[in-house]
Amino acid sequence: MEIDVAPAEDETSQQDAPSRSGSKVKAERAQLYKQLAPAYEVLFPLVIRNHIRTSIQSLNIPEGSKVLEVGIGTGISMPVYPQHAKITGIDLSEPMLEVAQKRIQREGWDHFDLRAMNAEQLDFPDESFDFVTAFHVVTVVSKPQKMMAEITRVLKPGGRLLVINHFRSRRKWIANMVDRADSVTRHLGWRTNLECQSIVENLPLEVEHRYKSSPFSLFTIVKAKRC
Ligand SMILES: C[S@@+](CC[C@H](N)C(=O)[O-])C[C@H]1O[C@@H](n2cnc3c(N)ncnc32)[C@H](O)[C@@H]1O
Repeated sequence: MEIDVAPAEDETSQQDAPSRSGSKVKAERAQLYKQLAPAYEVLFPLVIRNHIRTSIQSLNIPEGSKVLEVGIGTGISMPVYPQHAKITGIDLSEPMLEVAQKRIQREGWDHFDLRAMNAEQLDFPDESFDFVTAFHVVTVVSKPQKMMAEITRVLKPGGRLLVINHFRSRRKWIANMVDRADSVTRHLGWRTNLECQSIVENLPLEVEHRYKSSPFSLFTIVKAKRC
């Protein structure tokens, strides 16, 4: 597992500026996920495992495909990927990746490659992957649009993107209520007011499917094709 984290060109989030520098925000996030890694393993799978599993399965990933998972965390999704594909997982947090690496060793998998890397500055050539997935990440990075531009850059034309995340509600009264929580959750490391449309606009992506796994689910599943 590589452990160098490529620094972003400009780490200062517009929404964090001017009072908090990008490197301070990044250090706080790294510390946050270091503290979260053990609890994450226990709690998060209970909430998310099902919609991640069904969404990955619905991609029908063919044999020999190259897949990138951005912000793979502790690797909750890993058991779902087919062993006939080559999966690269990246994450900013080394403690999260260490948990994922232990899982790989425990299972004896050889189809995963984990790397510490910033999703906003991916260290891969253009058009490297057939599939890119990102679960519950786009609202925690400093610059969601930059992460999305990078994901799009490394996808092959015709390649598929799968994003699962919570987004700003389209119901105005819910959106207004949740917006008030944003200043609090921002300090905990994630934003609540990201519009789903904003992550795909102005990019060569064709949204093929956008849905919730159940009417009450907090999470939206977005499937898109690289044009
Ligand atoms: C809410 S967790 C989701 C983890 C995993 N995708 C899952 O669903 O279990 C967010 C993950 O994004 C990672 N992360 C945050 N900012 C990142 C960045 N700029 N580049 C790469 N990973 C980042 C965190 O370290 C953390 O593992």
